[in-house]
Amino acid sequence: MFSRGMKLILMVAFQAMSLISISTASLQYNFYGSSCPNAEQTISNVVYGLIDADPSMAPALLRLHFHDCFVMGCDASILLDPTKANGSPEKTAIPLRGYDAVNKIKAAVEAVCPGKVSCADILAFAARDSVAKSGGFVYPVPAGSRDGNVSSAFSVFSSIPSPFFDAGELVQSFAAKGLTVDDLVALSGAHSIGTAHCSGFKNRLYPTVDASLDASYAAALRAACPDGSAADDGVVNNSPVSPATLGNQYFKNALAGRVLFTSDAALLTGQNDTAEKVRENAGDLTAWMARFAASMVKMGGIEVLTGARGEVRRFCNVTNS
Ligand code: HEM
Ligand SMILES: *[C@@H]1O[C@H](CO)[C@@H](O)[C@H](O)[C@H]1NC(C)=O
Ligand SMILES: *[C@@H]1O[C@H](CO)[C@@H](O)[C@H](O)[C@H]1NC(C)=O
Ligand SMILES: *[C@@H]1O[C@H](CO)[C@@H](O)[C@H](O)[C@H]1NC(C)=O
Repeated sequence: MFSRGMKLILMVAFQAMSLISISTASLQYNFYGSSCPNAEQTISNVVYGLIDADPSMAPALLRLHFHDCFVMGCDASILLDPTKANGSPEKTAIPLRGYDAVNKIKAAVEAVCPGKVSCADILAFAARDSVAKSGGFVYPVPAGSRDGNVSSAFSVFSSIPSPFFDAGELVQSFAAKGLTVDDLVALSGAHSIGTAHCSGFKNRLYPTVDASLDASYAAALRAACPDGSAADDGVVNNSPVSPATLGNQYFKNALAGRVLFTSDAALLTGQNDTAEKVRENAGDLTAWMARFAASMVKMGGIEVLTGARGEVRRFCNVTNS
């Protein structure tokens, strides 16, 4: 078990680094090596502890990084609380979880090296550590992204893909962020963990059941999500099988008609060979891990602020000035 894990770590690390070395040239591996040598270890320790106490923090932190990166780049703008100056920041648009966890991680990092480690990098490291805890594989994360001071709810809905998107819209949404169809499919494996509200997939249950849904799964979803009551928005696991294990189960679910969203099922509809890529990932866990790691690093490089741009926030929920 341990030796298999070690093998995966090395293999994934190697492939992740070789695949992204050009596209994220502005971020650097071991960025905090001299300015805060214990940064990554400190973050891992806190994240592992938080996930031990509450396993749902793994999907929460993974999704936070995705939303941060897709809206105005990976600059921790998702973390900013509303103030008089910023009005309605990103976090007011779509409810996400894990904000308290990030504040705790930041406090631990500030205690070892104050003012050095950006909240944007903390989100990338915390996502990596969440993958390690829930998926059993790790990958090196290049860092040096800095924190922005602009955050607007308005930009969220034009940047975050909708669960009602079709394949073409998904491909376009990822392409707008410099991500490929391979990235789209590999990253969708994140839906092997975590939960979703009924409102995101009820369109496939009522008035008639979507033909691409497995019948018994649809029946279970209908029971969990009764028709009508919008106020009572239930929550179900993203994956009906091993819902806390990040892996390629998501792709097996997709092939079996057991995924929640229109956007999940859309990956099987043929555009841009997404269906072929779903089958490839379903059939090879190790290959998916390597692809997922590489795509996470690529996603972590979206529109980053580096060098003298941006700042290192003292508290992740407020800008310094
Ligand atoms: C491909 C387009 C995507 C769409 C349309 C989408 C949509 C959604 C929706 C609607 C939810 C349910 C939220 C709720 O009702 O509470 C969700 C959950 C989640 N998504 Fe995605 N997502 C996409 C891609 C991604 C990516 C790229 C990642 C990460 C790499 C990701 C990670 C997650 C996680 C971990 C959850 C569970 C969150 C939790 O349990 O707190 N998603 N997604
Ligand atoms: C930032 O978070 C801290 C700690 O949770 C809180 O006391 C403070 O009010 C927050 N700042 C804003 C602007 O909401
Ligand atoms: C996806 O497919 C469409 C239609 O075949 C094509 O126009 C588009 O360039 C493809 N996009 C990518 C990213 O391959
Ligand atoms: C935002 O940050 C930049 C530095 O990156 C700074 O020059 C600018 O004044 C800041 N704007 C606000 C509104 O704080």
